[in-house]
Amino acid sequence: MSEETFKKCVYVVLFLLIAIFFTKDIPFFGSKFYRDVTEVENPKDLIVLVNKNYKLKEDYIPPDLEQISLNYATDEKYMRKDAKEAFERLSEDARQMGYQIVATSTYRSYEYQEKLYDYYVQMKGKDYADSCSARPGHSEHQTGLAVDVMGSNQDYDLFEEANEFEWMKNNAHKYGFILRYPSGKEQITGFKYEPWHYRYVGKEVAKIIYENNWTLEEYKNL
Ligand code: DAL
Ligand code: ZN
Repeated sequence: MSEETFKKCVYVVLFLLIAIFFTKDIPFFGSKFYRDVTEVENPKDLIVLVNKNYKLKEDYIPPDLEQISLNYATDEKYMRKDAKEAFERLSEDARQMGYQIVATSTYRSYEYQEKLYDYYVQMKGKDYADSCSARPGHSEHQTGLAVDVMGSNQDYDLFEEANEFEWMKNNAHKYGFILRYPSGKEQITGFKYEPWHYRYVGKEVAKIIYENNWTLEEYKNL
């Protein structure tokens, strides 16, 4: 190989490496999700970020889980104290206005999430599973701060069609909850739109996120 040809090859390889570096986050070159995963250092923080790039330890169990009153949950469900009390207030106030908002899924252990994720993989394949179910350690249900809700149509999957959805959209932030996986933000959150999944972050942060139409990732500027 002549020196000239060798130089050309070096330039081509350099160009390709630079191109890959600048385009690695574009889906065509593979997803940014589940790459460079960082272990969460502050799992007890009420605004902790847990997603496809921030992971909880396998043995993390929230310190102050409390059972939600059966008036507001389908069965025995647990959330962290602040989130549980806020959810009960929300559900009670909604009830006073004729709405029925109940918790169907709240705290989930690492092992439970592992089974759930594996179930989706078995049933519909990995790509589908990754679009709607977090891998173990990556679910904010493990924080004890997330809640999947069901309305009066009795199907969490169809929550968007329930009368309660509009009420939740306009009021959840007043109790400290945000719609965690909004429509149109899939490239940021890494998950399909989930009208039923709400996350407790406290009233102050929820108000900011609501008013700016952000996700938790955008609030944290990540
Ligand atoms: N469905 C949400 C993303 C979870 O599995 O935590
Ligand atoms: Zn959920």
